[in-house]
Amino acid sequence: MEVKKISTISVAEAAARIREGGVVAFPTETVYGLGANALDSQAVQKIFDLKGRPHTSPLIVHAASIEMAKDLAAEWPPIADDLAGRYWPGPLTIVVAKAPLIPDIVTAGLKTVGLRIPSHAVALQLIEAAGVPIAAPSANKFTHLSPTTPEHVYQEFGDAVEILDGGPCKVGIESTVVSVVGNKLTLLRPGMIRIEAESASTPQGAHPSPGMHARHYSPRTRLFLVTTPAELPDRRGAYLWRKKSGITARSVRMPALPAEYAARLYETLHQLDHENWPWIAVELPPDTAEWRAILDRLRRASR
Ligand code: TXA
Ligand code: MG
Repeated sequence: MEVKKISTISVAEAAARIREGGVVAFPTETVYGLGANALDSQAVQKIFDLKGRPHTSPLIVHAASIEMAKDLAAEWPPIADDLAGRYWPGPLTIVVAKAPLIPDIVTAGLKTVGLRIPSHAVALQLIEAAGVPIAAPSANKFTHLSPTTPEHVYQEFGDAVEILDGGPCKVGIESTVVSVVGNKLTLLRPGMIRIEAESASTPQGAHPSPGMHARHYSPRTRLFLVTTPAELPDRRGAYLWRKKSGITARSVRMPALPAEYAARLYETLHQLDHENWPWIAVELPPDTAEWRAILDRLRRASR
């Protein structure tokens, strides 16, 4: 793959863009986000235009402090306080009743908003310097793989989006999303922070969560899941597994620990997608709680 040196902007420049009503890509510990001032509906509209994202998909609003997050919520139930105290800053999004100052476009008309304080130092610096909460989905086009490096963002948007570089994302897959509306805990999207809660089995009402679209987070190359190498159709493709290697034309040995596996997953899929293999097969990880989020993303990537 040709490596192009991409130009990036500083925290101060990115903060100025946000204040001017522009859009910037910025790092978080999970994936890169495509951010705009969450209180400016015209700025947020630009995110939807760039991503080709349907208006029925609500965005996560990123804050730099609990005080800033609470100002965006109409209610802050005890469970929210408990979860925020335990996991913020970090890869957890908490859905609560929204304050009126958040424009409808951010929440897809829902009366709730997803809030998160990221733990990436550069993300926190950006939100603080901008002085406003930042609405941001992952910085990829709708249904594509999430980006975990500035290069992934550049491959997706080219010069149309300015990028704040924070290095590769350490968590590597999107945040856990929970609802605490009415002080009732519901899991909306599994992530690397494991929360024991009832999952929302079907998308709620007229506004399905985009994380629940069956086809989401997909590479362009056909991807499928297997339990043994015997299920591979031939030897011509790329195979990701956690033990030996050398069985197919391209073999990638993935880490045995879930946290390391997650950190490498999208990076690996982006890379293999560029190499144009006829297929990508992935060995199914164990069906245990610590692999749940990874399994969820792999299922969505396969079609
Ligand atoms: O790690 C992450 O969460 C990344 C970084 C940039 O923070 N962002 C991200 O955003 O993954 P996005 O737009 O790709 O996914 C947002 C998820 C979706 O599953 C969406 O349905 C859910 O959050 N969500 C946001 N607001 C919601 C709300 N009010 N009610 C229910 N689900 C909501
Ligand atoms: Mg996304």
